[in-house]
Amino acid sequence: MTSWLHKYGYPTLHCVLFCVVLAANIIGGSSHSGESICSSPPVSSCSECLRRGPQCAWCFEAGFLDGAEVGERCDLVGNLARRGCGLEFIEHPEVMVEVNATTSSTQVSPGEITLTLRPGAEASVIVAVQQLERYPVDLYYLVDVSASMQENLDQLKTVGVALSHRMREHSSDLRLGFGSFVDKPVSPYINVHPSKINNPCSDYEVKCRPAHGFHHVLSMTANMSEFTRIIKRQRISGNMDTPEGGLDAMLQATVCQGEVGWRGEAKRLLLLMTDQPSHLALDSRLAGIVTPHDGLCHLENNVYMESTTMDHPSLGLLAEKLLENHIYSLFAVEQLQYQWYEELVRLLPGSNLLFQAPKLIDVVVDAYKRLLSVVQVSVSVEDRAFSRFLVSVSPLCPEGSVSHDNRSCSNVQPNQTVYFNITIGLHSCPDDDDDVDDVVQVFVRPVGYNESTIIKIQTVIIKT
Ligand SMILES: *[C@@H]1O[C@H](CO)[C@@H](O)[C@H](O)[C@H]1NC(C)=O
Ligand SMILES: *[C@@H]1O[C@H](CO)[C@@H](O)[C@H](O)[C@H]1NC(C)=O
Ligand SMILES: *[C@@H]1O[C@H](CO)[C@@H](O)[C@H](O)[C@H]1NC(C)=O
Ligand SMILES: *[C@@H]1O[C@H](CO)[C@@H](O)[C@H](O)[C@H]1NC(C)=O
Ligand SMILES: *[C@@H]1O[C@H](CO)[C@@H](O)[C@H](O)[C@H]1NC(C)=O
Ligand SMILES: *[C@@H]1O[C@H](CO)[C@@H](O)[C@H](O)[C@H]1NC(C)=O
Repeated sequence: MTSWLHKYGYPTLHCVLFCVVLAANIIGGSSHSGESICSSPPVSSCSECLRRGPQCAWCFEAGFLDGAEVGERCDLVGNLARRGCGLEFIEHPEVMVEVNATTSSTQVSPGEITLTLRPGAEASVIVAVQQLERYPVDLYYLVDVSASMQENLDQLKTVGVALSHRMREHSSDLRLGFGSFVDKPVSPYINVHPSKINNPCSDYEVKCRPAHGFHHVLSMTANMSEFTRIIKRQRISGNMDTPEGGLDAMLQATVCQGEVGWRGEAKRLLLLMTDQPSHLALDSRLAGIVTPHDGLCHLENNVYMESTTMDHPSLGLLAEKLLENHIYSLFAVEQLQYQWYEELVRLLPGSNLLFQAPKLIDVVVDAYKRLLSVVQVSVSVEDRAFSRFLVSVSPLCPEGSVSHDNRSCSNVQPNQTVYFNITIGLHSCPDDDDDVDDVVQVFVRPVGYNESTIIKIQTVIIKT
């Protein structure tokens, strides 16, 4: 690959097409002479046939050798043809790769690829991800306003203006938004004694606000005085148990695109500030809440309405929504909780963990720079087809950059292009109830980018 890069430099779309076709790799369908290991001992299904070896082919023609044993459908291509299997049922092009040149974008190319695969074949496509020099940035502060967080809230009051000064070097413009959360406002998470519901802090003789699942408070704004004004108005709240409802709030902030005001062209950062671990899915059974989260936005007048009826989202669901909405999550946590969140961050693509230090601005700027220097892709296959396809990804990192995990390149500079070699193999035949005429889509999403590549896979197979 290195030599290919040297030879052609940065690829145009044509080159991408060219390379893609070059990389297409057929592992099935070649024909050898001699005794066939495909036909004896006889197989009973297409899948079994293909497992016999890459040279084995299956005849899908409905009336092939009328009344013959099903095992006879498995043979070398040449033998099947000689025995009367229509060529169109075995001699389809095993692999065909087409790049849709009308779908072009600035950062991720090509936009759309159509693959034609037959069982037993695999193909590789190259997806290029080019970073721009500067991005607009949307940063949403999601702040735990339970009683222990007063200090952090105070700290935020000065962040807006200073952060926007600092980010000027790195970003074309910055917008900030704000939302608050505590926990599900039901027992046993809060004290439901009437005197405590409205002022959960009455024991401490302080006035504080009722606990809430999530309030969206300020939509993305470039007006830093407005941000400061809103932060100054925030009052803390209180709850009973130590973990907080951060994941509920993160999910709403992620999927309520319109309310939050995420911009399509911005790098989107969601910063969770808390001094406690978060409740996970199934935790709310304790409060009798058993309905799983549906992954949708449930804000009414900026208040999360399903806090007391739906469980916390699972990490898988949250990860999926973050990815889909190209949002990076950052966790600013107290040192005591660092370890707990380390586990969580591993499960959320592209997310980042920070110490909740006095230098909040530095850590946000650093996190942003770090996120830009790591280019990572996430490849997902539609659920129903997941088991039939084998997908592997290998990054081809530009000069000066390295891959530590086979999924990403670190230390990427602005304007550099990262290539990902995505290999897709169709290793089994469709199940009887699969609709084989369906096109299966594979989504290649660079984490945090607003663009992606769709690979449409057409399988050439006709059911027996
Ligand atoms: C992509 O990966 C496949 C499978 O690992 C390999 O055969 C192929 O040579 C790679 N292509 C490039 C251009 O690196
Ligand atoms: C290419 O993509 C465009 C836009 O998504 C679509 O309208 C068009 O049908 C595609 N062409 C092919 C050949 O798939
Ligand atoms: C910014 O917000 C402040 C305080 O809310 C307000 O007085 C001012 O008019 C706003 N500026 C702009 C340009 O909207
Ligand atoms: C994605 O971001 C780029 C650069 O920031 C922008 O030009 C483009 O319009 C965005 N695309 C969408 C679909 O929002
Ligand atoms: C990356 O892939 C190579 C070859 O497939 C493998 O040997 C290596 O262990 C992988 N590294 C990691 C960190 O997964
Ligand atoms: C990045 O690319 C843009 C547009 O092609 C160019 O104007 C800019 O000078 C480049 N920056 C660097 C650091 O190479």
